Amino acid sequence: MLGWFVTSGYFQNESVLYVKDCFKKAFAKHGVEFCHVRSNEKICFIGQDGNVVLQGQKPDFVVFWDKDVLFATMLEKIGIKVFNNSRAIEICDDKAKTAVFLAGNGIAMPKTVVAPLVFANRDETDDTFINNLLQTLDFPVVVKESSGSFGWQVYLAKDENELKTLRKKLLHTSHVYQQFVSSSKGKDVRVIVVGGKAIASMTRQNDNDFRANVELGGVAKYEPVDDEFLSVAQKCAQVLGLDYAGVDLLVGPNGEPLVCEVNSNAYFKGMQSCFDVDVADVYLQYILKKL
Ligand SMILES: Nc1ncnc2c1ncn2[C@@H]1O[C@H](COP(=O)(O)OP(=O)(O)O)[C@@H](O)[C@H]1O
Ligand SMILES: [Mg+2]
Repeated sequence: MLGWFVTSGYFQNESVLYVKDCFKKAFAKHGVEFCHVRSNEKICFIGQDGNVVLQGQKPDFVVFWDKDVLFATMLEKIGIKVFNNSRAIEICDDKAKTAVFLAGNGIAMPKTVVAPLVFANRDETDDTFINNLLQTLDFPVVVKESSGSFGWQVYLAKDENELKTLRKKLLHTSHVYQQFVSSSKGKDVRVIVVGGKAIASMTRQNDNDFRANVELGGVAKYEPVDDEFLSVAQKCAQVLGLDYAGVDLLVGPNGEPLVCEVNSNAYFKGMQSCFDVDVADVYLQYILKKL
C-alpha cells in the first residue's frame, strides 16, 4: 500500500518537517510505503475528455497537510481517498466560512460579524457598515483575516479609530470581527480530534499578548479541561466533516468553551511535548481502518 503525505511546495518549516517525520515513522510501523509529496511535484490535469489525470503512480490514500483545495479535489475526482477531504479543508482554511458553517448547530462561539464583500475595484464611501458593527460589538474588538495562521493575521481594535484603520487595511481581504473574550485573554485550549474522538488537549498561555499562539510566545502545557471542551471540539469536527481537527477554544466568563477556530491541518509538535499520545499513529490507524 502506498500513501502520500502532501505538504505545500512553497512553504516548509520546522513544524511541517516534524509532522512529516512523525507520519513517516507511523507509515513504517504499519508497513505502508511513505511518499512525501510537495504540491508542486505532481501534476494533475484535466484532459480533453474532461477527466482528471494524474501523472505517475496513484497512491492508495493521501494525508493532505496543505491547503491547496483544488489539488485535493482533483485527487478525489480520480477516486483517491484524501484525509482531510477537500471540502472540510476549504471551510477550515477560512475563518469566516468556519463560523458560518458551524452556526446553527448549538456550538457557542464569540459573537462574530463577517465583513461584507467589497469588490476589488470598489471603495467604502460611508460609515453604514461600521455604524452597524459598533451597534453589534463592544470594544475591544478582535479583527481576523479569514485566512491566517500562528496569530499573525489576528488584531485587536481598542477604539473606533483603530477599528476604522483595520477596516480600511482589510477592505479587499475577507475578514471577520469578533467580540473579545476578556476572560480568555492570552489563553486558549487546543483539542485534537481524530475520527470524531478527542485524543489530546493542551492549554496555551501568553502573558505578553492577547493571542495564545506558541509562535507569539504562548507556553503550551497539559492541564485537565472540562469534558465540555472535548465534546464541543468533537462536535465541530463532526459538523465540518473533519477526520482530523485541531480545535482552538476560548474560555468564557463562566469557564465555558467558546470556539475560536478549527484547523484542518493543525501541527502537533507542541502537543507532543506535553501530551502522551502518538498523534500521527492514531490518525494513520484511523485512516487504515476507514479505507
Ligand atoms: N474573540 C477572541 N477573544 C479573545 N481572544 C481571541 C479571540 N479570537 C482569537 N483570540 C486569541 O488569538 C489567538 C489566535 O486566533 P485564531 O483565531 O486561533 O487565529 P490563528 O489561526 O492565527 O491561530 C487565539 O489562540 C486566541 O488566543
Ligand atoms: Mg489558532
